[in-house]
Amino acid sequence: MAEDCTPVTIVIFGASGDLTWRKLVPALYNNFKKGRLSECANIVGFARRPYTDQVFRDHLQEGVSQFSPETFDVGTWEKFARLLHYFQGDLDAGGDFPKLESYLKTLEMDPANRLSSSPQASGMAHGRHEAARLYYLATAPEHYALVAGELGAAGMASHPDCWRRIVIEKPFGHDLASAGALNRAVHAVFDESQVYRIDHYLGKETAQNILFFRFANTIFEPVWNRRYINNVQVTVAEDVDVGHRAGYYDTAGVVRDMFQNHLLQLLALVAMEPPSSFNAEAVRNEKAKLFESIRPIVLTDTVRGQYEGYLQAEGVTPGSQTPTYAAFKLNIDNWRWQGVPFYLRSGKALMRKTSEIIIEFQRPPHLMFHLPEGSEFTPNILSLCIQPDEGIHLRFEAKVPDSEQTMRSVDMDFHYRSWFDGSLPEAYERLLLDALAGDASLFTRSDSIEAAWRLLDPVLQGWEAQKAPPLVAYPVGSWGPTEADGLLGRDGRVWRIGCTDEPGIIHAGD
Ligand code: BG6
Repeated sequence: MAEDCTPVTIVIFGASGDLTWRKLVPALYNNFKKGRLSECANIVGFARRPYTDQVFRDHLQEGVSQFSPETFDVGTWEKFARLLHYFQGDLDAGGDFPKLESYLKTLEMDPANRLSSSPQASGMAHGRHEAARLYYLATAPEHYALVAGELGAAGMASHPDCWRRIVIEKPFGHDLASAGALNRAVHAVFDESQVYRIDHYLGKETAQNILFFRFANTIFEPVWNRRYINNVQVTVAEDVDVGHRAGYYDTAGVVRDMFQNHLLQLLALVAMEPPSSFNAEAVRNEKAKLFESIRPIVLTDTVRGQYEGYLQAEGVTPGSQTPTYAAFKLNIDNWRWQGVPFYLRSGKALMRKTSEIIIEFQRPPHLMFHLPEGSEFTPNILSLCIQPDEGIHLRFEAKVPDSEQTMRSVDMDFHYRSWFDGSLPEAYERLLLDALAGDASLFTRSDSIEAAWRLLDPVLQGWEAQKAPPLVAYPVGSWGPTEADGLLGRDGRVWRIGCTDEPGIIHAGD
C-alpha cells in the first residue's frame, strides 16, 4: 500500500454531533492554519440531518469561533471552509455506503476541489485521481462495528495505492467481552495497522511530556523505582457534573468513562519501562507489558461514590447505582514497582478541576532534625501537572531562615505558560496529525484495550453484584467520599494535590 498519496479525504461519521463541532473541526482548522493540513484535503461530514455544504460550513464556523476564539479569523476560515463537504446519509441504511463511495470518488476526482495545481498534490501521481482516506468514527459507540462492517462491504477499507485508516473514539467497548467483539468486528475489515483507537489524554502535551521528562533527562530515572518512590497518585478531578450527558454517563460511570482509558494510560506513561525507540510498536509493547504486570484489583482496594443530587439529573435512571467517583489502589508486580502502591482517583462535581500525578518519595532513613511537636514531616514530592496549570513542581524541605531547626516545604516550579509562547495546542490537533501521518504511538492497540478491560471487569462485576464496597454519597464541591481518604489512611498516607500555587496545600481530603 503506497504511503505517498498526498491528497487525503477525512470522512467524519457523526458529523452533526458535539465532538465534531467542539473538538474535531476546530483541531483541523488549527492544523490548516499552521500549514499542517494540505489545501487539497477534503473533509466530508456524514450525518442524517438535511444539511447543504453551506449550512454545514456555517454550523462549523460557529463551533470554531466559539471553541478556538484565539486562532479564528475569517480569512483563514474562508480558505479552510472550501475543504468542507457534507453527505447526508443514514448509518443504518446499508445502501448509503456505496453511495458515499461514489460521492467520495467524484469529489476526489473533481479538479475544482483541488486548490493546488501540482500533479502530486492533485493526486495524479499514479496517473489517476485518488486520495488516501481517514475515516473518523465520531458516532454513538453502538455504531462502531456497523460502520466498520459497511466500509468493508462497500469496498472502502482498502485500496491498492492509497492508505485507508479508521479512527475510533472512546468508549471502546463496555466491558471485556464487548471490547473483544468490537476488535474482532473491526479486524474483520481493517488490519490492526489501519486502526487508530483514540484517547485524547494521550494527545495532551503534558501527557506526552511524561516520557520526555523520564527518558530525556538523566537525573530522574535512577530514582524512578521502589527504592526511592514511596507511592504514586493519579488524580483526575473535575468540578463539572454530568450536565447534559447523563443519558450516556448513566450507562457508563466513572470507571468506563475515565479509568479504562485516561487514568490507566497516564499510569502506563509513569510506570512503563523505557522503550528502545520512540516508535509506535516499541512504545505500545512496553505499555502492554505494564498492563500485564498490574495485579488483579481486590474490591476492598476500591471506593465508589456518587455525588449528591446526581439522581435528580435529567436522563439518570431512578435509583441509579452509577458511580461518579472512584478510587483504586493498584499494585504492579515487577522489579521496578514491587511494594509501591499506585492510588488512582477520578470523579465529577469535585472541588476543582485538576489532572495530576504525584510521585511521593521515600522519607529520609533517619531524621536528625527535631520536628515541632505534632507536626508531620513532608517527603519530597514531584507533581506532574497535566492540566489546567500545566507544568512540573518539585517540593522539598528547606530550613526557615532565622529559625533553629524549623523546616518548611518549598516548591521548584516549571510552568509551560512561562517557558513556552502561546497556548498549548488541543489534544485533537496532535492526534489528527499523527493519524494522518500514520504514527500510532499515541493510539491504543487492541491488546492494551483488552488488558485494561481485563483489569477493570472484575471490579465492575463485583460492584454491580452489590458486593463491597457500598456506593457512598459525597457532597458536590468536596474531594469525594471520606472512604477514599481511608483507602490511603489505612496505609498511613494521604491524598496530595501538588499542582497549585496556593502555599501550604499539600494534601486534599481533609
Ligand atoms: C472524556 C469523558 O473522555 O474526558 C468526560 O468522557 C470527561 O466525561 C472528559 O469530562 C475530561 O477530559 P478533559 O480533557 O476535560 O480532562
